[in-house]
Amino acid sequence: MGGRAAYRRRHLARGRLVVREERVAVPGLADGLEGLLVAHLSDFHGGAFLARGDLAAVVEATRERAPDLVAITGDWITHGWEDALPLLPDLARLAPPLGVFSVFGNHDYRGRLEGRIAEAARSAGVRVLRNEGVRLERGGAEFALVGLEDPEEARTVDLERARSGLDPRLPEIVLCHNPLAARRIARAGCAAILSGHSHGTQVDLPFLRRLGPAHPGLRVDLGATALVVSRGLGVVGFPLRVGAPAELVLVRFVRAPSDGPSVREGRAA
Ligand SMILES: [Fe+2]
Ligand SMILES: [Fe+2]
Repeated sequence: MGGRAAYRRRHLARGRLVVREERVAVPGLADGLEGLLVAHLSDFHGGAFLARGDLAAVVEATRERAPDLVAITGDWITHGWEDALPLLPDLARLAPPLGVFSVFGNHDYRGRLEGRIAEAARSAGVRVLRNEGVRLERGGAEFALVGLEDPEEARTVDLERARSGLDPRLPEIVLCHNPLAARRIARAGCAAILSGHSHGTQVDLPFLRRLGPAHPGLRVDLGATALVVSRGLGVVGFPLRVGAPAELVLVRFVRAPSDGPSVREGRAA
C-alpha cells in the first residue's frame, strides 16, 4: 500500500500529473469538428499500484479541460479482470458529451475474461470497442471512431470489420493499444491513431531501456496519419517511473491550413 500511495502522490496528484497537448491537422475538417478535443487516457494497470480513488485527480484534470470525448487505450488490469472494478467510480465521473470509449490492451485478455471488463466498464458509462466503429457527431458534422482488439493477444484484429457501415469519407480516429500496429493501420488511411502500451518505457534510462516495451515515440506522423502514444497512467512490475511521467494526453483536431493530400485519398478500397 505504501508503494501505491507514494505512486499516486508522485505521479497522479494534481501538479504532478503531466498534461500533454497534441494538435492533429486534418485537411478539409468540417467547421463543426474544428477544435474537437479527445482526452486520451491509457494503461491504468489496476491492481496493487492503482486502485480506488487513485484516478480522482486525473479525472478532475480531464473534466477541467472539457473534452468532447474520452478515449482509453487499454491495459485496464494487472492480474485479473476484477482489477478494473475499483477504477470505475472515478471513471464514471468523466461523462463527456460524446462518451467514453475504450479498447483492450494485451493485459486485459488474461484468463480470456476481458468480456467481464467490458461489461463492468459499461456500468460506468465506458463502451469498449472490439473491432467496432461508431459514428459520432459534433456541431452538425460527423466523424468515425474505430476501436481495434489488441494485436498481440486478441484472436482477431479486423480493421475492415470495425469500419463496416461507416462512411469512408468521414474523418476517422482509430484506437489501438499497441503502437506497433500503427504503420499498417495508417496505410489504410485515417486521421489519427491513439495508442498506449509502451509506458514511455516506464524507466527510461539507457541501460534499462531494452527491458521495457518497444517505444516508437510520443508523436509520430505516418504520412497523413498522426500516431499519438500515451505514456499511460499506471505501472507494471514496480511503482516507479523514471523519465517517463504518467500523463493525460489532450488531442485537439484542427483543419489543416492548406489543401494538403486528403486523408481519404490514401485509404485502401
Ligand atoms: Fe501497459
Ligand atoms: Fe500493453
